[in-house]
Amino acid sequence: MSERTLILVKPDGVRKGVVGEVVARIERKGLKLVALELRTLGREVAEEHYAEHRERPFFGELVEFITGGPLVALVAEGPHAIKAFRGLAGATNPVEAGPGTIRGDFALEIGENIVHGSDSPESAAREIKIFFPELGA
Ligand code: PPS
Repeated sequence: MSERTLILVKPDGVRKGVVGEVVARIERKGLKLVALELRTLGREVAEEHYAEHRERPFFGELVEFITGGPLVALVAEGPHAIKAFRGLAGATNPVEAGPGTIRGDFALEIGENIVHGSDSPESAAREIKIFFPELGA
């Protein structure tokens, strides 16, 4: 069953110059790129994207970070795309992410963990609508 997922190469990933590496891993896995854009998020879009974390203590820090420079937003498609990308990304905390995963290979801190990937079909639909409304439902 083919599905879509919203992936962000966050500002730390762009700063570190690993956009090509992340995209290569996505493509090597067999996922297909459906949309891709470099953009800098405004506070409003960032708060909407991370709305479910609004009450968490790190929310302010998260919004500052994600709006702090250009990021790459993309939509990838394929069988089990959501789970497949989360496997490529590794654990949220990079020190717990295994070697060979994106976070395991390129990051050390939970606040700067290189990539975001939707965590469910519902989140994917909501997030794709925020970043690429032209893709439709
Ligand atoms: S997950 O993967 O959604 O279950 O992870 P979760 O722990 O719920 O974290 C949600 C997002 O918040 C980021 N995060 C943090 N940022 C800054 N400081 C701290 N302490 C922190 N803890 C978690 C984490 O990277 C997740 O970002 P996304 O972009 O969703 O991966």
